Amino acid sequence: MNIAIVTGASSGMGKEFVRQLFWESDNRIGAHYDEIWMIARSEDKLRELKEEVRGSVFWINSKVPTSSGSHYITGLRVLPMDLTRPESLAKLSARLQKEQPVIRMLINCAGMGKNGAFAGQSQEDTHSAITLNCTALSELTNICLPYMLPAASSLPKKHGPRIINIASSAGFLPQPGYAVYAATKSYVISFSRALAVELQGKNIAVTCVCPGPCDTDFIKVSKDDPNATFTGIKSKFVTTTDKLIPASIRASKKCKKMLVYGLGQKALHVMSKILPTSWILFFEKGMY
Ligand SMILES: NC(=O)c1ccc[n+]([C@@H]2O[C@H](COP(=O)([O-])OP(=O)(O)OC[C@H]3O[C@@H](n4cnc5c(N)ncnc54)[C@H](OP(=O)(O)O)[C@@H]3O)[C@@H](O)[C@H]2O)c1
Repeated sequence: MNIAIVTGASSGMGKEFVRQLFWESDNRIGAHYDEIWMIARSEDKLRELKEEVRGSVFWINSKVPTSSGSHYITGLRVLPMDLTRPESLAKLSARLQKEQPVIRMLINCAGMGKNGAFAGQSQEDTHSAITLNCTALSELTNICLPYMLPAASSLPKKHGPRIINIASSAGFLPQPGYAVYAATKSYVISFSRALAVELQGKNIAVTCVCPGPCDTDFIKVSKDDPNATFTGIKSKFVTTTDKLIPASIRASKKCKKMLVYGLGQKALHVMSKILPTSWILFFEKGMY
């Protein structure tokens, strides 16, 4: 059984990844997945997404009939779990061991970060951000690789299993107001780039995606405010998941190691390489 695993599938970017992978799989554009495993804490939202995506099957298949005339169904599996809890990863590992799937795609998308001065943050928020963004992402990759590596060697070059890790442009530099979050995303960038090099000879592509502000629930969660939106200079660079996610999948298909999405983010990336960090921090302090 070929599968794709998407974390953070209940909302925002992860939800859009599920929609796109399902559409591609069902229409034989790229890899076919027998199942997409959707992971997040909110079971109700995952079930809603499953219904929504399934509801589109007839329309999709009637638009693009398969050569055999039969439907090419991709299953959607709801796996509600809190990735900050070690028992969740143990459960997932046991499930993989039992079912022995081939993981053709792993998308590490679940992530969070609290906004505000570090001194005002709780130990729980700090623990959750580091555990979800760094520990769970790395350990899940660890758990999944044994189900990717054997298939990788038998597949044509550049058509092997793929990993997409969602980092952030926040990871380019320290960010007052998002001190822990930005540090965790630096970790994701560093980890992903090293892993990409380790795995490229093994026919597994790792793509690190670095978006800037995107219209998801991220900002609402980070500010604990259901009405929160991006403000200041960030509000000028807000993108949408329907643009970002197809670009991320394209980058992964091309085996790109890094996608910095958006002109503003590309400029920030270049500046982070050439300007002294203290200069950028001085500018950032004014925005914080
Ligand atoms: N939106 C932006 O501006 C932006 C910019 C750059 C990078 N990013 C990154 O993009 C990724 C996706 O975020 P998003 O923008 O789509 O935000 P989002 O809409 O808030 O989605 C976050 C996802 O993570 C899941 N999640 C949170 N805590 C979890 C936990 N303990 N266990 C399992 N799943 C958990 C959430 O599901 P449940 O609540 O149901 O668990 C949700 O599906 C994150 O890594 C984020 O850091 C976002």
